[in-house]
Amino acid sequence: MSWALIPLTEEQREIQRTAREFGKAEITPHVDAWDRAEAYDVGIVGKLAELGFLGMLIPEEYDGLGLDTATYLVALEEISAADASVAVLMSVHNSLPTQMILRYGSDAQKERFLKPMARGELLGAFALSEPEAGSDAASLRTQAVRDGDHWVLNGTKAWVTSGSHAGVILAMARTDTPGDRKGARGIGTFIVTPDLPGFNVGKKEAKLGLRASPTVQLHFENLRVPAENLLGDPHMGFIYAMQSLDNGRLGIAAQAVGIARSALEHATRYAGERRQFARPIKEFQAIQFKLADMATRVTASRALLYAAAAAKDRGEPITQFSSMSKLLASETAVWVTTQAVQIFGGYGYVKEYPVERLFRDAKVTELYEGTSEIQRIVIARELYAQS
Ligand code: CAA
Repeated sequence: MSWALIPLTEEQREIQRTAREFGKAEITPHVDAWDRAEAYDVGIVGKLAELGFLGMLIPEEYDGLGLDTATYLVALEEISAADASVAVLMSVHNSLPTQMILRYGSDAQKERFLKPMARGELLGAFALSEPEAGSDAASLRTQAVRDGDHWVLNGTKAWVTSGSHAGVILAMARTDTPGDRKGARGIGTFIVTPDLPGFNVGKKEAKLGLRASPTVQLHFENLRVPAENLLGDPHMGFIYAMQSLDNGRLGIAAQAVGIARSALEHATRYAGERRQFARPIKEFQAIQFKLADMATRVTASRALLYAAAAAKDRGEPITQFSSMSKLLASETAVWVTTQAVQIFGGYGYVKEYPVERLFRDAKVTELYEGTSEIQRIVIARELYAQS
């Protein structure tokens, strides 16, 4: 599908080529098996690391590639077109935990955690949600209590992408006290590592889509976190998380564009090959109109995404554009994959063809890192904030 609307630099084209070839060689041959097994081969993490894809936004002084947001999203779309399950590990790692440590971490935290994360030796995860705190993230209950040179954390985090094999988890916990609740301003962010006493991986979710990506609960039972692992201000952890989700939502938008583009490409090819009523089905206007609408929506989603990425790279506020990008791209992915299944007919409903998986994978982009309803709330609030 044409990128003509977004002029890529030579470096971006090279990274796009690298990511596409990597996807074809290292991911596509395994994607069905990983989906059925509900697990990708964790060796894929090391292979992404070899390409530098786990340190794309981290400056070179911290062992990253020091690339801009647009270039990172070009690579992420390609990985997502190959497998959205692999894309989500790359998106979360690059957009959330590493960016939080880069922005708010101490020099010692950057040395100890950010550098190995940039090299891909430690995979990052982000633990904000809880079983009872999803859209209303500030209502989280995990409690952190200072005890000498440690913080002691108790609670359960939910929906943690890569939580079962991450080496670094940025977890939000209450630092206010039960007698003096401070809402969103009473939460800290802690750098948690799985070797700490009291860290337990809980149930792994059995999901509709993105099945190869492990999504787990984490139980903190008197988890003792060294005080030096507190990120920044002990009461600003929720604000840090929200700021980071502005980045994360661009990553999910790129993932959604990758899924939608892949469905469009499969449907276009199939419509040229599949014959009914003595002609290829691409000759029917019913199919042409679907393909035209699919291509238009994918192109519009990508254009908004790169406009938002450019705004971020210019240092402008992107809260609203990031939510708009995620909203448009995720709803596009669900709609486009639905049309792709329709074009494939019965063959779209079986595992013999990839659109069945793409249809399942698309849905989560409307749910995680903020549902479509939350994105609309953020967009509408910004309208009033600006007026
Ligand atoms: N940037 C900076 N600060 C922000 C911000 C942003 N984007 N959004 C909010 N804030 C600040 C506000 O300014 C406010 O600060 P003050 O105390 O100074 O007023 C503070 O944060 C609280 O904000 P709100 O009053 O707006 O908080 P709220 O409780 O009304 O919630 C919300 C706002 C937008 C609904 C937020 O809770 C939200 O985004 N919910 C969805 C959560 C989410 O996306 N979760 C996904 C988890 S990650 C995941 O999916 C798993 C994975 O591994 C992929």
